[in-house]
Amino acid sequence: MNEWKRQTQAIRTQADVSSHREHSVPMFLTSSFVFDDSEEMRAAFAGDIQRNLYSRFTNPNVAELSEKIRLMEGAEAGHSTATGMAAVFATLGALCSAGDHILACRSLFGATHTILTKILPKWGITHTYVDAANPQGWSDGIQDNTRLIFIETPTNPAVDVIDLEPLGQLAAEKDVILVVDNCLATPALQRPLELGAHISLHSATKYIDGQGRVMGGVVVGSGDLIQEIYDFARATGPALSPFNAWVLSKSVETLELRMEKHSQNAMELAQWLESHSTPASVRYPFLPSHPQYEIAKRQMSAGGGVVTFTLDGSLEHGKRFMDSIEMCSLTANLGDTRSIVSHPSSTTHAKLTEEERQAVGITPGLIRISVGLEDMRDVIRDVEQALEKVTAL
Ligand SMILES: Cc1ncc(COP(=O)(O)O)c(C=O)c1O
Repeated sequence: MNEWKRQTQAIRTQADVSSHREHSVPMFLTSSFVFDDSEEMRAAFAGDIQRNLYSRFTNPNVAELSEKIRLMEGAEAGHSTATGMAAVFATLGALCSAGDHILACRSLFGATHTILTKILPKWGITHTYVDAANPQGWSDGIQDNTRLIFIETPTNPAVDVIDLEPLGQLAAEKDVILVVDNCLATPALQRPLELGAHISLHSATKYIDGQGRVMGGVVVGSGDLIQEIYDFARATGPALSPFNAWVLSKSVETLELRMEKHSQNAMELAQWLESHSTPASVRYPFLPSHPQYEIAKRQMSAGGGVVTFTLDGSLEHGKRFMDSIEMCSLTANLGDTRSIVSHPSSTTHAKLTEEERQAVGITPGLIRISVGLEDMRDVIRDVEQALEKVTAL
């Protein structure tokens, strides 16, 4: 590893310069790469020499993105995928076998919940959920066949924070793999591998892109585990497009700066919401009222860009709030420069039963705001006028 600091690595890590001596890396929009002779081709396929072969598994733009995130997270190896869900599925698919058990946090992104509850059981892989509010649940939940602990921290959308260090120690003690979906914090704010995790993964679609343009995923971690994930992805094909990788890699150059500003803006909104009489509760990792505030302060350098609050009452209150928003976007994404308002009960988590939603902390009045980079006076004005319309219900 070179000696550069994280922010320099994010900017200066680059694919090899070509004979044209370009300053900004070009896009390698090619399906495959050529060889001088059959011996070179044989050696590349055998892994005796390192060459780009075929963009389903090796491409300079994709490798550049993986390398940046690898360095930022302090990992041994990394691999990028087509989407965040491809990163989640390649990790679970590569590392778990029939009969294995996964221990996971209860509040999870909806599609990860679907993989655990609907897809992996087809291959005899079971799971148990643990509440973030019950840290004892992790050691109590370990079974003889537990292969892996899977968590998000902060979680989406409940914004629970899970203490990484004791979980890393438990994973080491019990010889299980700790996987952290680090999407909401990004390596700019939190580096799970330094606290004992074996794998850190991302939906690069979110803050790594940061402008809502392209999809992508990244997995980084110990060399042996990433090799298994790479082999799985190489054969099953969730390849990241070189175009998307180029966009994402450029965005990584401003990730630290953007995360600092997202966090500052989100804190401002969270404090404003807490002082307002309408929301019943406000959740943001760096608000002292957050149940895991002390943990967040210890393991994150700032609170990130996602704030949630609950409106007392029914689904109607949540919908009225959404319908009253004038400037912020109503869209499924998060981590954009533009502030995004969403209502998990009627959208991302609508497929869950009411009981399941309650269990993961999604009440009918829960609103998630992914705070963007606009002038906060405009965001707060928009939220304020929407809250007034809810109060009038
Ligand atoms: C925490 C988390 N993990 C994974 C994903 C899935 O990422 P993608 O949409 O890139 O597949 C998301 C998407 O919102 C997410 O928020």
